[in-house]
Amino acid sequence: MANDASAVSDVISPVVPKGSLADPFTPPADSALWRKNFLLGAATASYQIEGAVDEDGRLSSIWDTFSAIPGKVLAGDTGAVACDHYHRWEADIEMLASLGLEGYRLSIAWPRVMDAAGVPNRKGLDFYKRLLNRLKEKGITTFVTLYHWDLPQHLEDRGGWLNRDTAYRFADYADLMSRELAGTVDAWATLNEPWCSAYLGYGNGHHAPGLANDRFATQAMHHLLLAHGLAVPVLRANDPASQKGIVANIGRGTPNSDSAADQRAAHLFEVQHNAWILDPLLKGSYPQDLFELWPGTEPLVLDGDMETISAPLDFLGINYYFRTNVASDGAHGFRDVPLEGVERTQMGWEVYPDGLRDLLTGFKKTYHNLPPIYITENGMASDDQVTDGHVDDTQRISFLKRHLAAVDQAIKAGVDIRGYFLWSLMDNFEWAFGYERRFGVVHVDYSTQKRTVKHSAELVAKFLKERKARA
Ligand code: FCB
Repeated sequence: MANDASAVSDVISPVVPKGSLADPFTPPADSALWRKNFLLGAATASYQIEGAVDEDGRLSSIWDTFSAIPGKVLAGDTGAVACDHYHRWEADIEMLASLGLEGYRLSIAWPRVMDAAGVPNRKGLDFYKRLLNRLKEKGITTFVTLYHWDLPQHLEDRGGWLNRDTAYRFADYADLMSRELAGTVDAWATLNEPWCSAYLGYGNGHHAPGLANDRFATQAMHHLLLAHGLAVPVLRANDPASQKGIVANIGRGTPNSDSAADQRAAHLFEVQHNAWILDPLLKGSYPQDLFELWPGTEPLVLDGDMETISAPLDFLGINYYFRTNVASDGAHGFRDVPLEGVERTQMGWEVYPDGLRDLLTGFKKTYHNLPPIYITENGMASDDQVTDGHVDDTQRISFLKRHLAAVDQAIKAGVDIRGYFLWSLMDNFEWAFGYERRFGVVHVDYSTQKRTVKHSAELVAKFLKERKARA
């Protein structure tokens, strides 16, 4: 989640020992991961991998604009070329299939498929049709996210997510896509991580479009959730056989001490990261504590909006990366207190698998109508190098094993979790961190576009092969 620069301390080397067991990945025999119907896949997003930003009539997005502003993205990187997936998609799907991955979560670039007047762009649509048809031919389950942050710039020019009209434009876009792509999509996710779009985009300005105002963040969130709510019935009408859901990033906040103030701080952290999104979706209301944290920021909500937003979902996508240790800031809120001596990744994020389990089991208690869950992103960045044709990503292997164990524990505690997507299939444009942070299970050499399967991907593939053989 949250590629928030403020969460990044100095890059700390992993404390996981190098080179250990022969197969440090395979889950234990009693793990739910052995179940044939537990979907294991990988995820990507359009702006992070496609490149070809000026091709076939694609319009500009807020990330093209933002990444062109000096200082916004590390090393001045942009998604102009990225993994050149727009041209290399066939080989990339071959690679995905050769790893035995059963699911693929991708996103559609809104600026590729329709113009400012809503006129479909055939060439852009054809790209996704070819891609999805090929995935279906390969027997891969397809999860398609409609909005993974690349808002058309022409909509931002009219206020972006601060403008209620963007929610209606999103429903039009969902209508076009579900009419065009029905039958090739197994599951539609309306939005990826509205927290990041609203807070990083409009609240602290670390992401496109780069605005920084808490009141903007709550209003942008409301319009994002409204967009989701307006799109769901459209998707249902056009493509009844598929599942409909949304993807939320979730954050674990733990108190720095037993003091009531720090406990409250941890609670508020989770309200801001989780309940802000999940309460409107699953309870039909915003958590009032949010406005204790940000007094006076209540969004403008029109009659009927909360009913639209809280329409039932077929699934909830959950993205989890790390925990944040917090203390009271002495006023209304919380402040981060980074723990010393803990394992961290190349992002500086703490490796904390228990957070995933604890949040999931907590949601089951809080939300009586919690839909079936897919972990739609989980993974880590490391400074991976290719040596003699191999990438030894030991920390990632251990990370994945421990997080999959946390998923298994949550399943055993009664949470209905149906699948898990690695973030990410391949190294890619990591938003404000550009190409330096490598999240892939496949390495990308950006000077040649050569893909090299990392050791983690080999072990996942080995497990999937074994699981298939046993079925
Ligand atoms: C999530 C994003 C995804 C990726 C990971 C690391 O916040 O959804 O695109 O950047 O973080």
